Amino acid sequence: MTFDTIIHGGDVVTPGGVVRADIGIVGETIAAVADDLSSADAARRIDATGHIVLPGVLDVHVHLELPFMGAVSADDYRTGTRAAARGGVTTVIDFAIPYAGESLQDAADNWKKKAEGKAMIDYTFHICVTRWAEHKDQIAGMVEQGFPTFKEFMIYESEGWQSDDRAMFDTLERMKKLGAMLLVHAESARVLDELIDRHHTPELMQEYGARLHAITRPNFVEAEAIQRAIAWCEVTGGALYIVHMSTAEGTDLVRAAQARGVNVFAETCAQYLVLDDSVFAEPDGHLYACCPQLKKPADVERLWEGLKSGEVSVVSTDTCTFTREQKAMWNGDWTKIPMGMPGLETLLPVVYTYGVLEGRLTLVELAQKLSANPAQIMGLAPRKGAIQVGADADLAIVHPTHRIRVDPATMETNADWNPFEGRDLAGFSRTTLSRGEVIVDDYTVVGQEGRGKWLPRTTAGVRA
Ligand code: URP
Ligand code: ZN
Ligand code: ZN
Repeated sequence: MTFDTIIHGGDVVTPGGVVRADIGIVGETIAAVADDLSSADAARRIDATGHIVLPGVLDVHVHLELPFMGAVSADDYRTGTRAAARGGVTTVIDFAIPYAGESLQDAADNWKKKAEGKAMIDYTFHICVTRWAEHKDQIAGMVEQGFPTFKEFMIYESEGWQSDDRAMFDTLERMKKLGAMLLVHAESARVLDELIDRHHTPELMQEYGARLHAITRPNFVEAEAIQRAIAWCEVTGGALYIVHMSTAEGTDLVRAAQARGVNVFAETCAQYLVLDDSVFAEPDGHLYACCPQLKKPADVERLWEGLKSGEVSVVSTDTCTFTREQKAMWNGDWTKIPMGMPGLETLLPVVYTYGVLEGRLTLVELAQKLSANPAQIMGLAPRKGAIQVGADADLAIVHPTHRIRVDPATMETNADWNPFEGRDLAGFSRTTLSRGEVIVDDYTVVGQEGRGKWLPRTTAGVRA
């Protein structure tokens, strides 16, 4: 057999285990995974000896060029997907949000315009239902077009995004009928409003500064909302996915619901696995404001446990980059800090370094949480998510121990700060392939902007 590319001699992380193997690629697709392809013809050979070959990572929770809190997030599809490629991420799923008067179709079209001509890797969107009464009858048509996942926010009234229980209940019923899935940002809006109002005084802002971000978001704010979303999921039978889960209590609730057979999945993000709210003691602590807020060391440990035991299925980033200048808009008032942080470039390095190298996850588990599960749950398998014959040749070739210091000055993201700044992380991608094409070579981004494609998805992954 003749191949366009052979990846030779790496430790290949397949769904069945790690095997020393060669990978043969024809066109955009994996055509062979075999012990030894050295006698086969190939236009190009990539040496992976001494390296781990992982399936390309899917970051299924990003916000690129998002207008939010009076700013626009600073990584667009150009810088965001360059950063992704450097981090071994080969697919992103963003959130298409309809603004005043817009339909779900308008939102999808607007987000496609942001991505086209800029994205280096493949992409698609979850469709946000922000005005349920107006949008509910548009949902089925979006599923038919290859958008099987929808999102409702339980907070963000001031952005015009907030959904109530009526919307969640009805949307989950529709998800059941359509075989689609509802993603939920779970925080308890009214209690959060009350806690923010109580603390929004000049005296407390003077005393606590940005720490008020953490103080006004105790764990029960997330846990109550997760519990309520699960209740609607349970009675409707619709599929539910909790995005960016940050608490031990939330993890316990998901575990208990799954044990009862409820069709609920949970995702956490890299920052909730490594950082806690002690960052607010740092001089630039306000930079870490994100939503939900970083929690306590006990939550960090429980989320790792949840990954290991299975109730947490996916690690994503919730990339929503704001620069130092944008974050400075807070001017002493924590409610005005644009919430979010960069993450795409460091997702794989963070989970590899603190997960695999620290013995919390095996390589196969890493590939499950970053590639196989997100692809399966979001309706992209078997095309994405695993190294197997017939799948897109999306790969990240990683040295097992080579560490690179996180330094915004040398990164692809537009962020001029980084939540992991100064850490020496292993797991950056030496070589990234997207659909058979090398887009990162020797740790340097070499892919063409605009080569990324929109990915239609099926409902197969999300059916119970
Ligand atoms: O801080 C964050 N996460 N910003 C993006 C919006 C969201 O809630 O995901
Ligand atoms: Zn959110
Ligand atoms: Zn988000």
